[in-house]
Amino acid sequence: MAHVAIQAARSPAVDLELSWTEAELPERERTKHVHRLHPYLGKFVPQLAEVFLRRYAEAGQLVWDPFAGSGTTLVEANALGLRAAGCDLSAFNCLLAQVKTAAYEPSSLAADVAWLAGGDAPAGGGESEPPASPYLSRWFAPEALAELLEFRSRIGGTAYPELWRVVLSRAARSARLARHDDLDFPREPVRGEYFCHKHRRVCRPVAEADKFLRRYARDAACRVREFGDLRTDAAVAVLEGDARAVDPPGPVDLVFTSPPYPGLIDYHEQHAYAFELLGLERRDPDEIGRGVRGYCEDVAAVLRRARRALRRTGRIVIVVNDSRGLYDGILAAAGLRLEERILREVNRRTGRRAGAYYEEVLVARP
Ligand SMILES: C[S@@+](CC[C@H](N)C(=O)[O-])C[C@H]1O[C@@H](n2cnc3c(N)ncnc32)[C@H](O)[C@@H]1O
Repeated sequence: MAHVAIQAARSPAVDLELSWTEAELPERERTKHVHRLHPYLGKFVPQLAEVFLRRYAEAGQLVWDPFAGSGTTLVEANALGLRAAGCDLSAFNCLLAQVKTAAYEPSSLAADVAWLAGGDAPAGGGESEPPASPYLSRWFAPEALAELLEFRSRIGGTAYPELWRVVLSRAARSARLARHDDLDFPREPVRGEYFCHKHRRVCRPVAEADKFLRRYARDAACRVREFGDLRTDAAVAVLEGDARAVDPPGPVDLVFTSPPYPGLIDYHEQHAYAFELLGLERRDPDEIGRGVRGYCEDVAAVLRRARRALRRTGRIVIVVNDSRGLYDGILAAAGLRLEERILREVNRRTGRRAGAYYEEVLVARP
């Protein structure tokens, strides 16, 4: 792979090599500990956040991510002893970010896993179940849905209900009547055998959820314990809301963020099953990037708000795929000037969306 890197002009000691090859940055590193708690399309690799957090922030300072998504910035900031706050419009993304950054006590985790795996009907701790919605009946085989709802009813008896809600969602994603090679945005439930491009063989629709629930519950417990060894006591705040109207909880030292790109990913729809199963409210009309129209004004409004909260010495670092060349205008409208523009080759490794593409990291100042 051709490396595209720019040596930092202001800080020659920091080597900004950001176009990592698979060998330099293998999948297990990109998806370490809580970063693989739940699939999320559109996140950046934690190592990218780490480079800029180390470069521009010091322990105790506040990092703000107005488009926090799955919480990558918040996790990496916390591990470095930085205070972190993030905002996201999607209730599911906020849940995910909270769960990733929370503290867990190992013996309570183990007790939860045992309770959730219990075969008997919930004894007292379970909740009575509302009837399955038409969406759930359409997208899950009857046995799979019954197992998911049974797990959901047990969550009330656990020490960490939010963590298990994320596990429930992850299992539901795997157990949907979706083709294995089309898990991101399946349009129609699949009810019969089909040729699967991912597994290169004939596959059948998934009929049960229990195996996923058990596997992912154990996996989640391992992952949060692993991050527990790195986690610091630095404060983390996750604010659910529209970033055009949400302020960070204090003066900000560094903004590190990646806005949605116009027309690329529908962030509500990718977790439609989670919104249904967890009873979360969707706010699709307020999602930025659903189209090009209004996009520049919306992102500029978020960055302007971030700029107002920024300390005089602070930086705003933005990861973008600016193929439409919108960001010069957006930065100007937000009252920011570009200090550095770094091109990074992203080597997508898996799935039918495989293929390299470029993204940019923009470093801006008021
Ligand atoms: C590119 S993703 C961020 C991914 C994140 N960097 C990560 O690693 O997980 C953009 C995020 O912006 C969120 N978003 C879209 N419109 C928003 C709005 N009006 N206010 C706050 N967040 C919004 C989406 O829900 C999505 O999670």
